[in-house]
Amino acid sequence: MRDVTKDNLTEVFKSYMGPDVSPRLREVLSSLITHLHAFAKDVNLTHAEWETGISFLERAGEISSKERHEFILLSDVLGLSSLVDMINSRPEGTSSSVLGPFHISGSPPLAIGGDLKGDFGGPVLVVQGMIKNVDGEPIERAALDIWQTASNGMYSSQDPDQDTYSFHGIQTTGADGRYAFTSVRPVEYTVPTDGPVGDILNACGRHPWRPSHLHFIIKAAGYRPLVTEVFPDDDPYLDQDTVFGVREDLVMRYQEMPAGSFPDGFALSGMVDDAYLKVDFDLTLVSA
Ligand code: BEZ
Ligand code: FE
Repeated sequence: MRDVTKDNLTEVFKSYMGPDVSPRLREVLSSLITHLHAFAKDVNLTHAEWETGISFLERAGEISSKERHEFILLSDVLGLSSLVDMINSRPEGTSSSVLGPFHISGSPPLAIGGDLKGDFGGPVLVVQGMIKNVDGEPIERAALDIWQTASNGMYSSQDPDQDTYSFHGIQTTGADGRYAFTSVRPVEYTVPTDGPVGDILNACGRHPWRPSHLHFIIKAAGYRPLVTEVFPDDDPYLDQDTVFGVREDLVMRYQEMPAGSFPDGFALSGMVDDAYLKVDFDLTLVSA
């Protein structure tokens, strides 16, 4: 096409795709370009603004590595990651929520009642519940990959004072579907702001905070894997998570338990005399 105009460019783009392009790729790319062109026309994008956008993408590429996923962070703060989660979530199961950049593979096994706290400080937290199906029946052999921050707000991969797998563990449920472990209360923290995504947050007058949370990836044979996180209802950032990860059904309540009431069946049983926090939270998986 020689006579490309502002009005036909989008259709010309589509006509340039070959006949063997997969139908799904054709659909996704055609829609993406339609919206991209419409956006540029909508805001009358200037050359200077276009250059700012390109240089942003270049800087995001430069700062990215195997450990630093600036494009995922961008998707998170723009709400795209959460939107994809919501589009693919099933209402009959527990909502999914952002994976985030701090999950690491190969976490060690954590026995039922096991402890993630170790020698770290912070309020002792007992977390327990059931992994169940949509009929409320327990799921046996569900594997929960669990990770969280220490009380300083840092994940192990960010903190030289933590071992690789501090506050990480994989627990497998028995026939009763129960999971249970001890930890410390995780704290709210900021997403990384020292890169171009931090500049976007700043430019938009946005803060970088996430409410405190516990992360889970739950896998069980015959069920859709669930990537999610759960948040205490008293967190100051619950209604303004900078990555839009909070859902009503992911909000839990910590109970304040009196000194001398620590339960049996935990690695820390007999070792905690003080008051502690406890939460019971069930998670529902949907059949594959
Ligand atoms: C996290 O929860 O670990 C996280 C999620 C999105 C961006 C940054 C951190
Ligand atoms: Fe997190």
